[in-house]
Amino acid sequence: MAHSSWTPCEGAIHLAPSLLASDFADLAGAVRDLEGSGAERLHVDVMDGVFVPNFTFGTDTVRALRRLTDLPLELHLMIVEPERHVEMFAAAGADAITVHCEVSPHLHRTVTQIRELDCRAGAAINPSTPAACLDEVLECIDLALVMTINPGWGGQKLIPRTLQKVEQVRAEIERQGLPTEVEVDGGVDASNARRCVDAGANVLVAGSAVFNHADGPAAGGQAVLAAAGAAPPAS
Ligand code: DX5
Ligand code: ZN
Repeated sequence: MAHSSWTPCEGAIHLAPSLLASDFADLAGAVRDLEGSGAERLHVDVMDGVFVPNFTFGTDTVRALRRLTDLPLELHLMIVEPERHVEMFAAAGADAITVHCEVSPHLHRTVTQIRELDCRAGAAINPSTPAACLDEVLECIDLALVMTINPGWGGQKLIPRTLQKVEQVRAEIERQGLPTEVEVDGGVDASNARRCVDAGANVLVAGSAVFNHADGPAAGGQAVLAAAGAAPPAS
């Protein structure tokens, strides 16, 4: 699906389940569980062992996921020199690509490059990176990602102070009159989803809260969305 044909519904709260918390030996099962569950996109965490200590998916996995589902694939690149790889990830089937400000000295060029590849573009900031680092590119991105944990692993606790930056990013988006989405990623669950939305987030990434739910991923996703105050999906 090309970015031009993926138009998230304005004003809605979106859930982006992170496959990082799924059983990597059964990604097909994870995708099947999420289809039709209210998940509007799949969040795919790419790690290179350099920007973050961990390794995860690469282009081959993205290609395999692309064959499995029509759900939009939103890639979160936790890799150095992302500009060298965005073309490969777009060709593998990404619908959206988010890169980190901390490793993108030419962030404006990189997000523009992502849009030219017909993908939605995102820019992410770590907990220690000021919200203002996004100000100059907000008009060239579709998604501003505020990390609510230090990236690298799932299953961590949300760092409350990061929600102040969600407020700052949302305020700046409104000041500039933009449609940019604000996404929170890390430690998001039913206990804090409402706080994330109240701070200004409209896309909630959730890994553990979805995949570790006792009644399965669909129920886990619904619990997060319900706690966030989202309308239940149309049946
Ligand atoms: C971590 C990733 C997150 C992760 C979130 O670096 O960017 O997307 O999957 O997982 P939970 O929801 O378990 O914190
Ligand atoms: Zn992520």
